[in-house]
Amino acid sequence: VIEDIRVRKILDSRGNPTLEVDVITWNGFGRAAAPSGASTGVREVVSFPTGGVDGIIEEVEDIISAELIGMDAEDLQEIDLVLKEIDGTPNLSAIGGNTTVAVSMAVAKAAAASYNLPLYRFLGGNMPSQIPFPLGNMINGGAHAGRNAPDIQEFLVLPVGASNITEAVFTNVAVHKRIREKIQAKDALFTGGKGDEGGWAPNLTNQEALEIQTSSCAEVSDETGVLVKPCLDMAASEFWDSDAEKYVYSKEGVKRNTGEQVDYVNDIIDTYKMFYVEDPIREGDFQGFADLTQKAGKKCLICGDDIFVTNAEILAEGIEKSAGNSIIIKPNQIGTLSDTYNTVNLARTNGYVPVVSHRSGETPDETIAHLAVAWSCPIIKTGALGGERIAKLNELIRIEEEMSNPEMADIKW
Ligand code: PGA
Ligand code: ZN
Repeated sequence: VIEDIRVRKILDSRGNPTLEVDVITWNGFGRAAAPSGASTGVREVVSFPTGGVDGIIEEVEDIISAELIGMDAEDLQEIDLVLKEIDGTPNLSAIGGNTTVAVSMAVAKAAAASYNLPLYRFLGGNMPSQIPFPLGNMINGGAHAGRNAPDIQEFLVLPVGASNITEAVFTNVAVHKRIREKIQAKDALFTGGKGDEGGWAPNLTNQEALEIQTSSCAEVSDETGVLVKPCLDMAASEFWDSDAEKYVYSKEGVKRNTGEQVDYVNDIIDTYKMFYVEDPIREGDFQGFADLTQKAGKKCLICGDDIFVTNAEILAEGIEKSAGNSIIIKPNQIGTLSDTYNTVNLARTNGYVPVVSHRSGETPDETIAHLAVAWSCPIIKTGALGGERIAKLNELIRIEEEMSNPEMADIKW
């Protein structure tokens, strides 16, 4: 039974305020914080009402406490419904989806703690068997880096040949280091600056970044024997010009219409053997997604982030139109854990690969590591370096250790 709820303003990794929530039950405790996006989808729930965290911090603790104190923390679905009722709007614009998601996650953690279970086991039932592969962020562009960086937002890698999570995260970091050397060799003025998600923020064209990314993958694969595949998040909505109806690549001075964009991305997938491409087409363009999926969906994961915004109804439309074959899962895009789980389920039953993901603004909150394991998601996207990124990766290392030693898991918790 929930006895107390505390809500406080804390820092996120960009230095912006966010909410942290503590939930106290008579025999448990849960704490969670909300992340925030920079290249958000237009159909996401509203993160905070006008005025941001400061606009609600005074009153939100009382409003939520009044309804939730006395409820059972393990009735997650009911609690999520109450949170949506408290807000009262379809897009959670009254108290904010970041408020509801932080409460929802903190309640789940408190419920897990009151059973003496880690969150991944409480949500996942019996001992889950799979640790997700970490999608690591290597080079940042677009909305996550300065103006001279590439237009493509994220150059990523996936260590598909890794046999455990420790090998996987250290392989990612080896590629990250190799990429730095290559950027430095090309640009003597490079200062080692990074973007919001811990990838390098270089003065490179998209093409140059692709070459460095993929040659680094190949070299590290050869040297370590762990196969690493290149991946991208284009975040194409960010450079779509809706007046001109073109994708504007400002670094190269090239504009592409939708058909040209589909062909360009398909060529990149072929040339660089991309394993995964996220948001290659702007949000809202289901047909463009479907065209690319038709061309490239057998050789590459075509993942929707801004287009689906973790929303089961919108994903259903995508499934109907065969738009994509993978979906990004960000709990704060939809506002509660129950709704997040519904979307994961819908994805899985329709053959879409769910990829649990961080946001560009993060805290050391490690909840998404547990969600990815509990829900048996094959991939987690949570960066490669940076304190708020390694918080999740290091938690996965701990979880794997527990999973391989079930007795230890029982004793420890
Ligand atoms: P955001 O972007 O967290 O800044 O919205 C991350 C992404 O596009 O995947
Ligand atoms: Zn994205």
